[in-house]
Amino acid sequence: MSPTLTNGFGSKARVDWDSIRLDFPLISGNDLVYFDNAASSQKPKAMLQAMENMVEHSYANVHRGVHTLSQEATDQYEAARKTVARFINAADDAEVVFTSGTTDSINTIAFSFGEAHIQPGDEILISGMEHHANIVPWQLMAQRKGAFIKVIPVLENGSLNLESLDSLMGPKTKLLSLVWVSNSLGTVNPIPYIIQKAHAYGIPVMVDAAQAAPHMPIDVQAIDCDFLAFSAHKMGGPTGLGILYGKRALFENLPPYRGGGDMIDRVTFEKTTFQGLPFRFEAGTPHILGAVAFAAVLNYLSGIGMRQIEERERQLSHSLRCQLKADFPEIQLLGTAPDSVSVVSFLVKGHHPMDVGVLLDNQKIAVRTGHHCCQPLMDRFGIHGTVRASLAFYNTEQEIARFLLALRKTIRLLR
Ligand code: ALA
Repeated sequence: MSPTLTNGFGSKARVDWDSIRLDFPLISGNDLVYFDNAASSQKPKAMLQAMENMVEHSYANVHRGVHTLSQEATDQYEAARKTVARFINAADDAEVVFTSGTTDSINTIAFSFGEAHIQPGDEILISGMEHHANIVPWQLMAQRKGAFIKVIPVLENGSLNLESLDSLMGPKTKLLSLVWVSNSLGTVNPIPYIIQKAHAYGIPVMVDAAQAAPHMPIDVQAIDCDFLAFSAHKMGGPTGLGILYGKRALFENLPPYRGGGDMIDRVTFEKTTFQGLPFRFEAGTPHILGAVAFAAVLNYLSGIGMRQIEERERQLSHSLRCQLKADFPEIQLLGTAPDSVSVVSFLVKGHHPMDVGVLLDNQKIAVRTGHHCCQPLMDRFGIHGTVRASLAFYNTEQEIARFLLALRKTIRLLR
């Protein structure tokens, strides 16, 4: 398979969203309203076909065999890397590492960057709206190295307090790791502005793009991030596969995170030398089928156009927000930042989010309830959790209408 992709920006003047929905076997021809896309998205046929094709014709382990089948598998795996690199506009394919997910990508940098650059007393800056995956790895590293975590505060409307940045960044700040789109609130943080600001202080930036990559074009060179992480399964790809992008200058000098096969140059019992990028960070047999299937999904998404997807999802989530605001005085919206996408988080006043979620599920509406792996953010608002509807481009206005009807009934039942 050759990478047919240009990048994630490919566009068509008009998209037929009804026929796009038919590409997703689980939701087409099913009356389930699936509004839990932030947890994991549904899979297009393109993913299944790519996996089936490889299993039937060209599956073997990669980078290890002289035999033809292994070389074919290696070609497909490396073509997948190229597809990802183009999708995010990386300058070099070697800057793209396959991991097991966003969590694994962040842990990799927390460990490797920590080993290479963090001294006792240094600071790592994160924000108050981070997923636990962008908190705990830094805490573990900070405990190991005697460093400290500092936190950019979250304002009442669910946006970041950007005015605090100058007081939080300084010579002790060794890295900023920040979420682009909040999985709990949908807030889109002004990542290019924040990166520029951090760089002015000489601080490298890691971006958690787990909820950004599914919803908007990503151009790592344009935003000038140093590291960026996202997961395949939140954008139509398989579980167990993630991406770690790293700008070569910084990335290639980091020590490995995991040791094992494929990441070595030479091993003796006395000493091991390592491969360069990207293999240094891919110990063991990778998720070969997953990477190849993910490339097919990225080609599929680019065929629709990431700008069209972004526009569609902004439109759908805006519509849901506006109708909730206008017609549901019983609802409290969490996160009303001016810029948001996909996620709409709310409370039915006086009722537990889980009760709301169960009653919605009884009406075939799938949402997530709880703290969404963001307990410090929930603490900030003095709540235990929310009800979260998270939309994808294959959702429809008709589904929003069904959701609102079901919510109306839920509120009646709760009373
Ligand atoms: N991180 C995923 C979510 O926000 C699981 O639901």
